[in-house]
Amino acid sequence: MLSWDEDVATPTPARGARPAAGAPRPVDSSFDDGALAVPAVANPAAEAPAAHRVNVADKRIINGETDVNQLVPFKYKWAWEKYLATCANHWMPQEINMSRDIALWKNPTGLTEDERRIVKRNLGFFVTADSLAANNIVLGTYRHITAPECRQFLLRQAFEEAIHTHAYQYIVESLDLDESEIFNAYNEVPSIRAKDQFLIPFIDAIADPHFKTGTPEADQTLLKSLIVFACLMEGLFFYVGFTQILALGRQNKMTGAAEQYMYILRDESMHCNFGIDLINTIKLENPHLWTPEFREEIRALFRKAVDLEYAYAEDTMPRGVLGLNAPMFKSYLRFIANRRCQQIGIEPLFAQEENPFPWMAEMIDLKKERNFFETRVIEYQTGGALNWD
Ligand SMILES: [Fe+2]
Ligand SMILES: [Fe+2]
Repeated sequence: MLSWDEDVATPTPARGARPAAGAPRPVDSSFDDGALAVPAVANPAAEAPAAHRVNVADKRIINGETDVNQLVPFKYKWAWEKYLATCANHWMPQEINMSRDIALWKNPTGLTEDERRIVKRNLGFFVTADSLAANNIVLGTYRHITAPECRQFLLRQAFEEAIHTHAYQYIVESLDLDESEIFNAYNEVPSIRAKDQFLIPFIDAIADPHFKTGTPEADQTLLKSLIVFACLMEGLFFYVGFTQILALGRQNKMTGAAEQYMYILRDESMHCNFGIDLINTIKLENPHLWTPEFREEIRALFRKAVDLEYAYAEDTMPRGVLGLNAPMFKSYLRFIANRRCQQIGIEPLFAQEENPFPWMAEMIDLKKERNFFETRVIEYQTGGALNWD
């Protein structure tokens, strides 16, 4: 069992029905819903309905009509709790000592060619992947979510994506890699380009300024994008790369990079869990969206994503390396994909698959791995701040 999988809250069922279709007011204009707008009228009897206070039962994840500027009263406490947990996990890339990595990278016999290929391919994917994730939140998801406690998490998540891009850039700079080669990999390396081309239409769809939720078709478009990013981008496309770099770290190689990846992995597992809670709550509030046709479409996307990530595994590991090989990832990706299906209520896609890397679950539980690579120089955690896992 992967430890991050246990963190998915049971969403609160909706207590009121909101019309599924119609033309909801743009969410960002709801400032005038609030208590600030009290009209001055001469005749109290003719007074327009007073600006009403937010009723928790009226809040919705999408197409809500309550004031998005009022964080409380909370309805989605799981979102607030995850926001607090992500803040408690704060870290910055430059706090991690990269001197051992630099010495190893510069040593001509320090790493094999296959190990160097893994590092460069990894960075080639991740230096742009987290920018895609950030853009998806900031330009797309955020404005369509009408629960302010969920928006609060998304704001923190967007900052964490910036930290991740910073971390990858910091590794590239520390190792004095060819920046142009690494940052252009998403255009120039087919196995990376294919993953990004799979993702980009799902950003474009919801970042389109003309896109609005409020019809079943539009709401399904948003839900599909949320599933693609939480379950397939953060929940699947990251895992070959994470496993490879952490496998290097377990062999006492590239330990600074591996430590950065451990912190990123912890953040991403929170993003994935939050996204799954968001998806499941939208499903509960809008059951009409979860049609058999929609579920089949999602299953097809899962299959495609597994194929793309497996092609990436083959490209990054033409031979066995670090005790890993591409076929092992076929099992791992199927195992993860089945788990993601289960988390959002879709039938598993593959026959029962075993996890070939049980140590990855331990890596996610950072408390046990404190000082594993002995590189961290600052500790932000205090008291019981890590209780989320
Ligand atoms: Fe990230
Ligand atoms: Fe993320």
